[in-house]
Amino acid sequence: MRMVDLIIKKRQGIELTEEEIRFWITGYVNGEIPDYQSSAMQMAILFKGMTKKETSILTDAMEHSGETLDLSNINGVKVDKHSTGGVGDKTSLVLGPMVAACGGVVAKLSGRGLGHTGGTLDKLESIPGLTISIEGKRFEEQVNKIGLAIAGQTKSLVPADKKMYALRDVTGTVESIPLIAASVMSKKLASGSDAILLDVTVGDGAFMKNMDSARELAQLMVEIGKNLGRNTKAIISDMSEPLGFAVGNSLEVKEAIASLQGHGPSDLMELCYTAGSIMLVQSGLSKNVEEARKALEENVANGKAFEKFCLMIEAQGGDISYIKDPSKFEMAKNIVPVYATEEGYISNIKALTIGVSSMKLGGGRETLEDTIDMSAGIVLAKKIGDFVKKGDILCTIYTNKDEKTYKEIIQEILSAYSYSQFKIEHTSVIKEVIE
Ligand code: URA
Repeated sequence: MRMVDLIIKKRQGIELTEEEIRFWITGYVNGEIPDYQSSAMQMAILFKGMTKKETSILTDAMEHSGETLDLSNINGVKVDKHSTGGVGDKTSLVLGPMVAACGGVVAKLSGRGLGHTGGTLDKLESIPGLTISIEGKRFEEQVNKIGLAIAGQTKSLVPADKKMYALRDVTGTVESIPLIAASVMSKKLASGSDAILLDVTVGDGAFMKNMDSARELAQLMVEIGKNLGRNTKAIISDMSEPLGFAVGNSLEVKEAIASLQGHGPSDLMELCYTAGSIMLVQSGLSKNVEEARKALEENVANGKAFEKFCLMIEAQGGDISYIKDPSKFEMAKNIVPVYATEEGYISNIKALTIGVSSMKLGGGRETLEDTIDMSAGIVLAKKIGDFVKKGDILCTIYTNKDEKTYKEIIQEILSAYSYSQFKIEHTSVIKEVIE
């Protein structure tokens, strides 16, 4: 078999066989197939697509390209959640403790941020002392003891995705539905949870820009998960404006702490309550989503969800004094308000522009080798639907960059805002649930 023939076959839109897909993935992971051929194949897939059968085979081949986790030493129904990425998305930090406080078992492997999207691991690492490198027995013991762990993926888990994702990132082949589905689901399946809840984001700050493509991706991933024996459901959530108010690592941790103490932004809390309710039903801990939501609300109100968060931070070596007193987090040197240049109801805050601006302020990385300034980012003062007068504060930037640099970024931030003279209807962050 020759890789070039498979590329041509896919370029012609012909379905690849199981043997051909496995030949590609095995050869690519062990170095026999070079980046340029794999890249050409990914581009052919981006243009010609894949059938459901091909996508399932690709997912399975990627899942088994390295070691898979066996969570059988962890008691109970293990439930995992994965978001396809967004701006200000600190959901895992809030949702994990909420679900664990209700008796759920959350053994979660998370990722790092790249480009305009943030990553849960980076956010957690803004807490001094905290490690995300917990593997094997330590991971199992922590989940068995407190019902919650958020760790980084080990090097040997789904090596095919590590190579393919890095290649997609630099060859313009990220936005392919079968490639995203196989990337996400191979990691979720290899991580060993019994139940999976997917949060497929849609809008300006997401990979999926419209509902049709978000629905197609969500349905495809749910089908793959179910076919491979996992209880899989998906939410489609809005990512046209950033989620919550804070964007940037320690700024988001502080917002997560406030949320677990009952002071969360309404869009973030709605997403956490909806996702958490589905996860508790998937775990068999609640009969229906109404009962589950009540349990989640109670555990936020009585402080148990916050307690779980503290237990996780301590178990992973984090300095708990920062959680008890978030004013201890190091502040950026420059904290600069950004003022409205127009009057009206805010009709749009482009999440992509805010995410890229936060990255440029130091809060994100352009390449995986970049280091992050944990204190950098943006805190919104207003959201879509709010009325502002000229000169009102729209948001505040936090940065250690020099004045010339941040002044240019402020102009980009201002370009993210649109205004309307008419009142804007508030729409729910939850667009659809796919079961
Ligand atoms: N998240 C992933 O893990 N993979 C993708 O391809 C896109 C988002």
